[in-house]
Amino acid sequence: MIIKSAEFVKSAAKLSQYPPPGLPEIAFAGRSNVGKSSLINTLVNRKRLVKTSSTPGRTQLINFFNINQSFLFVDLPGYGYEKVPASVKKTWGPMIETYLASRETLNGAVLLFDIRRIPGEPELDFIEWFDHYNIPYILVLTKADKLKKTKMRSQHRVIAETLSIPKEDFVLFSAKTRQGKDRVWDDLEELIGPTP
Ligand code: GTP
Ligand code: MG
Repeated sequence: MIIKSAEFVKSAAKLSQYPPPGLPEIAFAGRSNVGKSSLINTLVNRKRLVKTSSTPGRTQLINFFNINQSFLFVDLPGYGYEKVPASVKKTWGPMIETYLASRETLNGAVLLFDIRRIPGEPELDFIEWFDHYNIPYILVLTKADKLKKTKMRSQHRVIAETLSIPKEDFVLFSAKTRQGKDRVWDDLEELIGPTP
């Protein structure tokens, strides 16, 4: 994909604040700090289109970005982080589920996993929502650069086995080395479909 433009459109907490539906959309989902914002920046070759942070839970709203005036990337709030105020935590699930359930231009999603962690409730919640609302999704194991090859392979296997999903369905990715970027784009292009 050649990136000609990438622009922030707006942030939304609720349905009435979403930009009017039009272009096809891809949502980026995963627990807090997994690397959603970093993945988007890597895909569009920009260092700071989306704010990233070492403090989990920084993205607290749904953020819409227009890419090439052809499709939207949607950065979902980090989900399932324990150390945020209960008031914030309580709003996350409904905020995300409302978006997934109601956005008619949502073509697909990318679900991120930290390759160092065994998937837990947040990841299972997303898979359940995607299946329930018939949203096709791409599975990405991030921060692959943080592990040595042998450990990377065993984590890849364990994560796949935990979810009973074939190993080949996961893309190994690193925002640091850009490993996996091309494969993520190939899979995204399938979801986005033909663009002008
Ligand atoms: P929230 O918005 O809080 O939900 O986090 P997020 O999922 O958007 O994560 P973000 O992209 O902000 O990254 C969190 C931290 O992990 C930052 O310090 C990033 O620099 C780091 N990070 C993200 N991806 C990678 C990666 O592939 N490799 C390494 N080494 N660090 C990464
Ligand atoms: Mg973020």
